[in-house]
Amino acid sequence: MRITCVVDDSALPGSRFLSQHGLSFLIESYERYILFDTGASGKVILHNLARLGVEPESLSAVVLSHAHTDHTGGLAAILERSPDIPVYAHPDIFIPRLSLREDRLKDVSFPLSWATAMLKVRMNLSKEPLEVSPGVWTSGDINPRPEPEGRSDRHFARVEGRLVPDPYRDDMALVLDLGDRLAVVCGCCHAGILNTLRVVRERFRKPIEAVFGGLHLEDTDEATIIRVGEVLKGWGISKLYGNHCTGSKALGLLKEILGENVEPFPAGSSVAL
Ligand SMILES: [Fe+2]
Ligand SMILES: [Fe+2]
Repeated sequence: MRITCVVDDSALPGSRFLSQHGLSFLIESYERYILFDTGASGKVILHNLARLGVEPESLSAVVLSHAHTDHTGGLAAILERSPDIPVYAHPDIFIPRLSLREDRLKDVSFPLSWATAMLKVRMNLSKEPLEVSPGVWTSGDINPRPEPEGRSDRHFARVEGRLVPDPYRDDMALVLDLGDRLAVVCGCCHAGILNTLRVVRERFRKPIEAVFGGLHLEDTDEATIIRVGEVLKGWGISKLYGNHCTGSKALGLLKEILGENVEPFPAGSSVAL
């Protein structure tokens, strides 16, 4: 298996990959390509996939971590090129979402309406883990959540006509089964990194070797980040590739605890698993 970062807030220096506030990964498994998240725009995901020599028509599936448009904004462009592609997500992805920016509420909902998605897209909505391709699974619903979540005061959801703090119920991760161990790929990890990894450990019953993606630790206090690092170390997690909302301070602290295999993973980066 191989994982490549297609879209991130930063790109490999000197490369021709575009960066933007968003995230997308390409998983290569048994000669199939699975896209996890789609970045924030069609332009960037199509440009960066072309840099990798991957046509949208050759993708086998798209998995979405959650609704927010920095992860789903490129989906329409992928569907335009590959209309029959199966799309995997949590059923709560359709709940309207808003983000407060300079006293204005910006719509950051999933870009397709429920009706459009149901009629025109091969949606696979489930709270249970689903095997997307051999060895590539959705985590399923992240519940319970006894540990801190990856929250932002700016995020809201519209539930029964009322604006409420976003419950982020749709947040899922991707689980890569590497035989005797697992790798976990997070989107924004609003469910919380420890909650997510705990659920994956209990559900999949194999040790986690590596973690990729946005860990939502950029606004997290130092003591909490240190605790995250120590728990990860106790669980034997030795490789961590941080993107997007992980934060450079958190990545530095985690490197001190977990060792040298902690690094950023900008667009264009790739590792074999
Ligand atoms: Fe998000
Ligand atoms: Fe995000």
